[in-house]
Amino acid sequence: MSGYVVVGAQWGDEGKGKVVDLLGSRVSMVVRFQGGNNAGHTVVTGGKKTILHLLPSGILNENAMCVIGPGVVVNPFVLFQEIDTLAREGCSCSHLRISDRAHLLMPYHVELDELMEKAAGDAKIGTTKNGIGPCYADKYTRIGIRTCDLVNREVFAEKLKMALDIKNEIITKVYGGKPFDFDEMMTQFDAVRERLVPMLIDATDIINKALKEDQLVLFEGAQANMLDINYGTYPYVTSSSPTAAGVCEGAGVSPKALDRIIGVVKAYSTRVGEGPFITELNDAVGEDMRTRGGEYGATTGRPRRCGWLDLPVVHQAVVINGLTDIALTKIDILTGYDQIPVCVGYDIEGTYRETIPASLHEYAKAKPVYKYLPGWKEDISGCRSFEELPVNCQNYVKFIEEYCGTAVSLVSVSPDRDANIIRRSLI
Ligand code: GDP
Ligand code: IMO
Ligand code: MG
Repeated sequence: MSGYVVVGAQWGDEGKGKVVDLLGSRVSMVVRFQGGNNAGHTVVTGGKKTILHLLPSGILNENAMCVIGPGVVVNPFVLFQEIDTLAREGCSCSHLRISDRAHLLMPYHVELDELMEKAAGDAKIGTTKNGIGPCYADKYTRIGIRTCDLVNREVFAEKLKMALDIKNEIITKVYGGKPFDFDEMMTQFDAVRERLVPMLIDATDIINKALKEDQLVLFEGAQANMLDINYGTYPYVTSSSPTAAGVCEGAGVSPKALDRIIGVVKAYSTRVGEGPFITELNDAVGEDMRTRGGEYGATTGRPRRCGWLDLPVVHQAVVINGLTDIALTKIDILTGYDQIPVCVGYDIEGTYRETIPASLHEYAKAKPVYKYLPGWKEDISGCRSFEELPVNCQNYVKFIEEYCGTAVSLVSVSPDRDANIIRRSLI
């Protein structure tokens, strides 16, 4: 079987969009399997930047079918906005299909995310406020509304009524917010039905048929391992599984279908929102890194927290995902440093460890143990072969490879689709 997976190996924003866009031209299908419009995936082609939130990053290539899978939470208003924006730019989304099992992310989920974050004060998670947590919570408490529920107006009305009875009670009584009006929402969703229902498919069936026919299918992860609901820095995580295992669950395919599992690693670290970040640079060096790397959220515009590469974090992604390959991005941003610290482990009150403690109380005490690698000064954005890279840059790549025990198959040297060094073919 020929399933290829692209996942984030740190805290998100590693450059998954670029890698998916690059590989997208060689596959028959690109599938999103988890998350929602909390994702912000940037694709740059010929200097033109497109940021995708719900749409798979293969969308610019009209030869591959793009699927929003069962495990994704779909805000239909955001979806239509994205489709309309692309249409204005000349890209039709006629090759887009949506799972009839995906959950609808409703306006009250967005409202609740906002209200809960506000009420949490200093304990806030720093979510994207796109309603992701509240929507997945409804899914697991089994009061969610799925895209297939839209097909029949009466079925949808019954589910919406039940949901609103609960949500309005919480919004008004717990948070002092304004209730949602049932009739108004029914009218809004009549328009949604008209546009969304024709795009619905039994995605799992279509994906599995494609895999059975040995067509190449690319699964596009959003977020990343450290934001995983089970293995991330809980509770400072998202509400889904952005891992290779998440592909099986969120797209309905067998683990046996996954051929290559590619982890995207940024050559340094960034994080958006709250939560531990051991190598964070809260100083002028961090500021400078943010400026050099253009590290501002693609979804919320928030400044991303910046720091040195944390290899225990990457190693956890290698293990949990069973990464077969690493795609290393943004190494060009590290050009110019005399030496580059790389975190190889943590010192926690005198004890050395290379794994991430479950308890954030313990993790908060971790001090990074750095290995200092020599830097390079040459502009590398034009390099297209590994040998063209300055030796110290090659050694930086090899150090990551050796620590992780995983091949760095692709080195990306600028945002553009074609700016890559391919060391081992990914597809
Ligand atoms: P994603 O969420 O993982 O898809 O990543 P984002 O799109 O949120 O953030 C990655 C940013 O880095 C985007 O602005 C990309 O255009 C940019 N990018 C990707 N690869 C490279 C690279 O190798 N070098 C540089 N300088 N920028 C890159
Ligand atoms: P891509 O796919 C970076 C972060 C938020 C917050 C936490 C929970 O572009 O890599 P949520 O809205 O999901 O409930 O927020 O997760 N977060 C991301 N950080 N990149 C992302 O996606 C993210 N999606 C969510 O900032 O800390
Ligand atoms: Mg992003």
